[in-house]
Amino acid sequence: MSSTSSFNAEEHQNMLRSYFNGNGFNRWASIYGNEKLSTVRTTVRQGHAVMMDRAFDWLQRLGLSKNATILDAGCGTGLFSIRLAGNGYNVKAVDIASQMVEKSRDEAIAKGVADRIEFEVNTIESVKGTYDAVVCFDVLIHYPAEGFLQAFKNLSSLTKGPIIFTYAPYNRILAFQHWLGGFFPKKERRTTIQMITDKNMHKAMQETGMVIKNREKISFGFYHTMLMHAEK
Ligand SMILES: C[S@@+](CC[C@H](N)C(=O)[O-])C[C@H]1O[C@@H](n2cnc3c(N)ncnc32)[C@H](O)[C@@H]1O
Repeated sequence: MSSTSSFNAEEHQNMLRSYFNGNGFNRWASIYGNEKLSTVRTTVRQGHAVMMDRAFDWLQRLGLSKNATILDAGCGTGLFSIRLAGNGYNVKAVDIASQMVEKSRDEAIAKGVADRIEFEVNTIESVKGTYDAVVCFDVLIHYPAEGFLQAFKNLSSLTKGPIIFTYAPYNRILAFQHWLGGFFPKKERRTTIQMITDKNMHKAMQETGMVIKNREKISFGFYHTMLMHAEK
């Protein structure tokens, strides 16, 4: 996270926007959908569902009022936004990729909950507003430490309540696999998973005045993530 790092936020966002409006859209929309998948991707779908169930359970236990407004930062195809809206919450669903936002809107209309969701094409670094809670699933995993800190600072400034998010904790074996090469095409390689060390997570908490309230590793087949609840 040093200021001499070569991380360029705008360049990184452009790469993510183009990936998630292109190959990434097809890839993730099928994982988050119902179509038949390979065994590997089926475990990713199942693991993601386990993570979402756990996150929803945490949120429910926090006892937010039913009219609470929740920001779903990097909403993807809208799975969590739609679940929140279906349970009476008001939702702001934001994604960098317009294709993802359109898909979320279509799904929300089909499920009859679109009136509870405000959609916006925007980034997790730039979105504004005040929310009772913020959720951000499987988005920060695409950010190296410096970008993670920038995005996390913005998200944590938008709520006095909880922020529930996932990230990829540093793991030496995974680091080696990443070094060997990703399974993304070369020009999109940096959209692959980025790991955050405990030291950098500690720094993010310190600089935002947040405290870790809960943390749980979710591992299912090829889906591995750390689910975290932090609050000021
Ligand atoms: C792997 S998907 C996860 C989607 C959703 N959160 C879920 O768990 O179902 C990652 C999503 O993050 C979005 N994304 C990536 N970088 C972003 C950014 N800087 N701001 C907003 N959305 C972003 C992508 O467009 C994509 O929809």
